Amino acid sequence: MSNINITKVSHSRVDQVDFDNIPFGQTFSDHMYVADYIDGKWTNHSIVPFGNLSLSPVNLALHYGQSIFEGMKAFKKKDGTPSLFRPEQHVIRLNASARRMMMPEISKEMFLEAVHAIVDMEQNWIPKSKGSALYLRPVMFATEAKLGVKVSTTYKFIIITGPVGPYYPKPVRLLAETEYTRAAQGGVGEAKTAGNYAASLLPAQLAKEKGFDQVIWLDAKEYKYVQEVGTMNLFFVFKDKVVTPETSGSILKGITRKSIIEILKADGVTVEERLISMDEVVSAHESGELLEMFGSGTAAVVANVSEFSYRDKLYKLADVSTHSTANGLRDKINALRAGEIEDTFGWVVDVKSTVKV
Ligand code: COI
Repeated sequence: MSNINITKVSHSRVDQVDFDNIPFGQTFSDHMYVADYIDGKWTNHSIVPFGNLSLSPVNLALHYGQSIFEGMKAFKKKDGTPSLFRPEQHVIRLNASARRMMMPEISKEMFLEAVHAIVDMEQNWIPKSKGSALYLRPVMFATEAKLGVKVSTTYKFIIITGPVGPYYPKPVRLLAETEYTRAAQGGVGEAKTAGNYAASLLPAQLAKEKGFDQVIWLDAKEYKYVQEVGTMNLFFVFKDKVVTPETSGSILKGITRKSIIEILKADGVTVEERLISMDEVVSAHESGELLEMFGSGTAAVVANVSEFSYRDKLYKLADVSTHSTANGLRDKINALRAGEIEDTFGWVVDVKSTVKV
């Protein structure tokens, strides 16, 4: 039996949502899950109306950045059953981020119970159109009120949800960043922590002013090897193989990235996870070996890349309608999540809540 206390809204806002026009991250559902970490254990598990929080101005997360999050998605199968995509992978990654940031872990049972309960409760908010989903944002942050640099003794764990369309509705143009870097070996690049995204804002804004959607991060030592994009992992499709940077400590271990590698390998495609330099990418583009580039992420799913720039030169890829690998992967992942094709991988989990609403 669940120990989640429920306080329901008196009127749902779901009727006010235009499900045909749902830009990413602007609409939130009626409720959110909240729990507190106090005296060494998670407590106060509850689902409450979505709303503001009250925080001390000396909350440690605001000053020193102990804040980590996940991004995951829920879907509706054709028969209306709400489902989740690889939820266990998200608690594994959340706990890896927690360990790096000296934050408490969450048991698989607590995480899954919370996720199933909130999605079960908000299932009317799951959009039905292709490429759309109910986005879940689990977030954990320090709550202790102290000004010294220290590990917080208390935390909040929250899951908010909201319907979303594709993060990048159009193909993206990327700029390889040769001044700023995202993460050095030994840093926090592998953790899904708030500061990594804060650090990406200035370079992303400068790239936008030049007409690009995002930056391609390069390694922090030689400014040579590709790491990831500010919002997603990156893949290169060559004539005879697919290459993606290896996750060797400074790159986010994307769950969509992992799924794509598994799908490609199951389809007999050669996938290499290794160092890949911008020089290799440019010369493969010039020789005609590079057919496609695409980004992957929970929010982005599979995002076509139309152009990239490196050291003031612009490189155009073939029209994205010909990017059969990226387009095929997006269709397959969307179909898997919607239950339209057989889930031979066992990735799609039907939502079952033990909470009495
Ligand atoms: C996700 O893909 O879910 C993320 O958390 C990335 C974020 C930039 C939206």
